[in-house]
Amino acid sequence: MDSGLRKLLVSVAVLVPTLCLGLTRNATASALCDPLQPTTCTIGELADQLGIRFGSTLEDFEITDSNYTTVLLREFTAITPENALKWYTNQPSRGQWEFGAGDAVVNFAVESGLDIRGHVPVWSQDAYTPGWVKNITDPVDLLDATVEHVTKVMTRYADRIDRWDVVNEPLLTFGTSRSASVYWTLGEDWIGNVFRLARTLDPDAELWINEFGSDWVPGKHEAFLALVTRLVENGVPIDGVGVQTHRLPGAVLDQDLFERQLRDFTALNLEVAVTELDVPVVPGDPNAFSRQAEEYRKVVAACLAVAGCTEITIWGITDSDTWLDRLGYFATPTRPLLFDDDFAEKPAYTSIRNLLAETLADRRLPETGSNPVEMIGLAIVLIAIGGSIHRRFSRRITRMIAR
Ligand code: G3I
Repeated sequence: MDSGLRKLLVSVAVLVPTLCLGLTRNATASALCDPLQPTTCTIGELADQLGIRFGSTLEDFEITDSNYTTVLLREFTAITPENALKWYTNQPSRGQWEFGAGDAVVNFAVESGLDIRGHVPVWSQDAYTPGWVKNITDPVDLLDATVEHVTKVMTRYADRIDRWDVVNEPLLTFGTSRSASVYWTLGEDWIGNVFRLARTLDPDAELWINEFGSDWVPGKHEAFLALVTRLVENGVPIDGVGVQTHRLPGAVLDQDLFERQLRDFTALNLEVAVTELDVPVVPGDPNAFSRQAEEYRKVVAACLAVAGCTEITIWGITDSDTWLDRLGYFATPTRPLLFDDDFAEKPAYTSIRNLLAETLADRRLPETGSNPVEMIGLAIVLIAIGGSIHRRFSRRITRMIAR
């Protein structure tokens, strides 16, 4: 075949499927969810099509609450066990293994097709470490106990959990130095060693480090970034960084700053996620829910703007589930979630859903035939093909006709 004609045919073979890509992508959309009509979609459905896990928490006792599971299965694509996979739950005393709640939550999620964030083999805060662990004074013994615990928990769920918060909260809750935790007696590199162990236990799982308050405690983002950077530079097998994002009542997020903070982690070639989002309100504020909706919108927008932000998990479903009202720090009720006590959608829900829908509609290539720019491109290609065929074959065709 003439080389010019071959090049032309190759270009057509490449161009036509490219122009048709809009059709292919649209074909993967749910038949019922149309992002141009956001009320036809759920937040999880939209996030899923944007490649983002949209999670909530789950406790074992919530599995039997059909109101809870109805909303969970309708609106979310992932769960984080709120307390069922914590050390104090799984091994409250040495050798006393308790996996009833963990198994129930994990199995429910698997059977329901929900992804799971395994939270959390090691929580680096004495306040949430079982007494028997905190009281170990011999570092060799503590190392044995840590290796045994992480091994038992991660291997039990290796076939069902693909993303782990391996270490939670390595920094001081309201500060920038290392956390108040017995694990630091294992040496400076204890976090790296736990991650190396985790990789050998489940080579296929994503391994994450998760931190509280880096979005608002002064200097904490920088301290967390420095810690994660050290881990990466030391070759520690870490895949992702969880930014919990428990907001303060009435606080106003600097969206650009938050987005830059997320990017700081993806610049290290790591994934990043908003892992525990809640936005408490100030009781009595007449504009509480509209302010809250705007704060939720900014957090989600920042994640959507960052390639590599792969998950947004909300820390509960209804306002009555929240840990914040039990905490005693803030005036109650804090009403920090997307659904009210009766499982009705709040303005924050609508603002997130609409943002996800707009983003999805913008990102989707329009169907071939509906976009003027595509149509002009297609016309130019066809004219070029026609012209080339005419130039190359007209004399031959004329000669054939003459014969
Ligand atoms: O299970 C006991 C129950 O037997 C007892 O009757 C009851 C009485 O208070 O307490 C129950 O345990 C509580 C547990 O939640 C289950 O409800 C604990 O006291 C309570 O401290 C615990 O709070 C959890 C907290 O972590 C501590 O583990 C919150 O639900 C949970 O939302 C919170 O989640 C953490 C993340 O894991 C890490 N990031 C911060 C986030 C908020 O603190």
